[in-house]
Amino acid sequence: MFKTTAIAYSAAVVAICFLSACSKQEPQKTESPRTASLHPAASSQQEQIQTGEALFRQFCFNCHPEGGNLLDTKKTLHGPDLRRNQITVPEDIVKIMRNPRSRMLRFDPETIPDKDARTIAEYVLKTFR
Ligand code: HEC
Repeated sequence: MFKTTAIAYSAAVVAICFLSACSKQEPQKTESPRTASLHPAASSQQEQIQTGEALFRQFCFNCHPEGGNLLDTKKTLHGPDLRRNQITVPEDIVKIMRNPRSRMLRFDPETIPDKDARTIAEYVLKTFR
């Protein structure tokens, strides 16, 4: 008798846990953009593009809105400018982040880790052609 009650009881607890877990998950808000930088190990192509975009907005957008360049209009992030300035692969862009040529902010690896820097670089090359 006691045993049956105990089993019924624990079954009920399990069921309640299960149900409440479900109902908690249902209206899951996708509000926190911080998760993107907390989990930079983007698996799919789609996620990688979003992360690149988020990082770009965070660090680069102020001076390079829509891939332009507010401080030096001959050095936009658009393909023709990049190619003219021998910037063709992600490494070239990462190099500029680490060692800008003039008035651009310098981004050290503490601010933008290598992995994120590369994600931004790939985003730039893919997005502003
Ligand atoms: C404070 C303004 C500023 C910020 C923020 C900034 N840049 Fe720049 N960027 C510049 C300026 C000015 C130049 C041109 C001269 C130079 O290289 O310093 C430039 C040049 C570049 C170039 C070379 C473009 C060309 O056609 O030669 C790349 C690539 C670039 N920036 C990428 C980035 C990325 C990626 C970020 C974000 C991680 C970023 N920049 C953030 C101001 C900025």
